[in-house]
Amino acid sequence: MAFVLAVTGSAVGLGNIWKFPYIAGQNGGGAFVLVYLLCVFLVGMPVMMSEILIGRRGRRNPVATMALLGQEEGSSSNWKWLGGLGVLAGILILSYYSVVAGWTVAYIVKSASGVFAGATPERVSAQFGEFVGNWRLVGLSHTVFMALTIFVVARGVERGLEQAVRFMVPALLVLMFILLGYSISSGHFGEGLAFMFTPDFDRLTWDSVLAALGQAFFTLSIGMGAIMAYGAYLPEETSITGASGTVVIVDTVIAMLAGLVIFPLVFANGLDPADGPGLVFDTLPLAFGQMAGGAFFATIFFVLLSFAAWTSAIGLMEPAVAWLVEQKFRTRAQAALMVGILIWALGMGSVLSFNVLAEFKFYKGTIFDNVDHITSNIMLPLGGVAIAVFAGWIMCRNSTAEELGGAGRLYKIWRLLVRFVAPVGILFVFLKAVGLLPELS
Ligand code: PFF
Repeated sequence: MAFVLAVTGSAVGLGNIWKFPYIAGQNGGGAFVLVYLLCVFLVGMPVMMSEILIGRRGRRNPVATMALLGQEEGSSSNWKWLGGLGVLAGILILSYYSVVAGWTVAYIVKSASGVFAGATPERVSAQFGEFVGNWRLVGLSHTVFMALTIFVVARGVERGLEQAVRFMVPALLVLMFILLGYSISSGHFGEGLAFMFTPDFDRLTWDSVLAALGQAFFTLSIGMGAIMAYGAYLPEETSITGASGTVVIVDTVIAMLAGLVIFPLVFANGLDPADGPGLVFDTLPLAFGQMAGGAFFATIFFVLLSFAAWTSAIGLMEPAVAWLVEQKFRTRAQAALMVGILIWALGMGSVLSFNVLAEFKFYKGTIFDNVDHITSNIMLPLGGVAIAVFAGWIMCRNSTAEELGGAGRLYKIWRLLVRFVAPVGILFVFLKAVGLLPELS
């Protein structure tokens, strides 16, 4: 139970409520959502199971675990570089994640002050635009969020975290259902539903498929060793399949609910689904502004979302800190402070991407866009290929069967997915998206 709570805390976060709707909106809805779901179940879940079983077998930080198992399974300790890639991915992701988490913290204050009451779409968008345009304010919220994260990681995680998740996830679900009720009554629910679930494959590009794959990794916190780090604490007798299944379902339900809340609001207010990273902040305040007790619900909602972001942020920072501590290089508190300050400084690049440096664009856009793209769409899927190959090809059958509770039918399906479907699928999508594979027709 404690394990499921910790992993759920890491998985459920901004990825579900902020990122999923805006990416789905930018990629045209229906077909993207379908591909996303396929990625979650056919690639995400088996990779998550692999990370947990590797973590439990190694029982160390991801870098040391990969080195140890690499040798134990007759390969090489160079697999430690995979752990290293995860440490780096965690640092980079948290640098911009903390900025968006800072937005949600700032929105707690805005909500409580009642500014959304009776607001029009124009006013809500203008409020968001003004807010992210003010780099000092955004920088301050990012700083507050990082300070809170460093504080918990420095003291060592566990107990408080489980309690927080135990309360937060159900509370978040209740609020999502209240919002769903509102969006059903908005009169445009059917349109939102159709946008999300009517696939139009003509609009699907390989870039969108890669975005769906990257989002599956991001939302499940896989491909970077974070789940491996939690797996190290899992008791022998716990079922890895059961635990992963629970986390994947809870995570998917929350993302789908977020979409079902947001898209009807988008259509009811004449907004653009491809609005971008501001989508949630341009839509939800409209609902809160019109419902009875809106300021109250809005405040609670942004508190819960900040909490959800916080429990994820801890998972993002943990691999780097655990690794430094095991190097006997620093105490836990010193390691947390060092890693935290580095992340904070990198994060300033994302803070400025919405104001001072908004016009400074290269490759995929602003600094924020690039850090997001490189981590979610490149580093996590490649980490996923390596994890799948390790669990499917390097580890012997006996080792993995032992961890997964015998070589039954489910085991065979899992093995098929990690040996063939995940690595081949990910590499194929990857090469297609960068244009390295020719068209067949
Ligand atoms: N899964 C988190 C979310 O959906 O918000 C983000 C995340 C947390 C990614 C922890 C990776 C990680 F290690």
